[in-house]
Amino acid sequence: MYSLAKPFLFCLDAEKAHGLGLKSLEAAYRTGLNPLVALKPPPLKTRAFGIEFPNPVGCAAGLDKNGEHIDALMSLGFGFVEIGTTTPRPQEGNPKPRMFRLAQHRAVINRLGFNNLGVDALVRNVEKAKRNGILGINIGKNKDTPNEKAAGDYIHCMERVFDLADYITVNISSPNTSGLRDLQEEETLRRFIGELRDAQEELGSVRGHRTPMLVKLAPDLSDAELDGVAEVLNRARVDGVIMGNTTLDKTLVQGHRHAGEAGGLSGHPLYGRSTTVLRRLRTKLDTKIPIVGVGGILSGADAAGKVAAGATLVQFYTGMVFRGPELIGECVTAIKRRREGVA
Ligand code: FNR
Repeated sequence: MYSLAKPFLFCLDAEKAHGLGLKSLEAAYRTGLNPLVALKPPPLKTRAFGIEFPNPVGCAAGLDKNGEHIDALMSLGFGFVEIGTTTPRPQEGNPKPRMFRLAQHRAVINRLGFNNLGVDALVRNVEKAKRNGILGINIGKNKDTPNEKAAGDYIHCMERVFDLADYITVNISSPNTSGLRDLQEEETLRRFIGELRDAQEELGSVRGHRTPMLVKLAPDLSDAELDGVAEVLNRARVDGVIMGNTTLDKTLVQGHRHAGEAGGLSGHPLYGRSTTVLRRLRTKLDTKIPIVGVGGILSGADAAGKVAAGATLVQFYTGMVFRGPELIGECVTAIKRRREGVA
């Protein structure tokens, strides 16, 4: 069904197509037509950070920033859906156009800049959802909050979503919020993550349950930076790490008319870099800390490759744009075959 809609969607501006694609998905879900949208993937139970996932293939953050389509996305067969990034206060993001499709590269460049309705609106949407699956909530800071006060924004969001999320992702790797990636600098990260870990433990004891906290990193970290970050995350004993966000390296799509657009590049050209960094991260991180592999998954083989590089779970976003929901089942099947030693 997605292959029928795709030529039409690809005629539209990328952000409009995104909105329309999600509206159509929602309509299919509400009218019971979603079995036509995607076949249910086979079950493939996977444990990570104390959660049992029905399968290891998730929807990456950014696709449903405000949690408006949780049930529709879960109905496609994702093993988990991560909503957000959400910020304490609503914000509009950068001026449009701010999202570009590079079809020949199966890639997207975006500089949305955390456009979202704010954490209170997200909470209302989550409370309304049936939530027949595992839900991650990805949190960030407002654009006008300086990095010295960033922990306050993250802790505010953490408090609001702590009882609703199956896990929380701390996003410090979006390239579209000025200075955000500086939070990955080793000493800054040590203090920042320390504050968030304290808040997580405190909330856990007050609320009577633990919510795992993951940290989402950029694939643009140098080896030395990555090693420093891994050391901090090991000491802080975070529950998991997501590698990774979009890349700033546009040489990967050199010559394309959109290659000069500011923003983060996602999709196929990101696969090699993000998988290499994931492989290194796996050797540096404590084995008790699972990694979610994201970046450039456009086929089942790509997903299995992330697992081979050390990912316990995988996610994709741009794969939904170019392949649609059938990619979910393809990834689950490829990972299953790898586990069974077939491929
Ligand atoms: C993203 N991504 C993202 N990540 C995040 O943590 N918070 C966000 O709000 C967003 N927003 C967002 C918007 C758009 C348009 C894109 C394409 C991507 C990053 C996303 O979750 C993922 O990490 C990267 O896109 C790499 O994976 P793919 O897209 O290559 O599968």
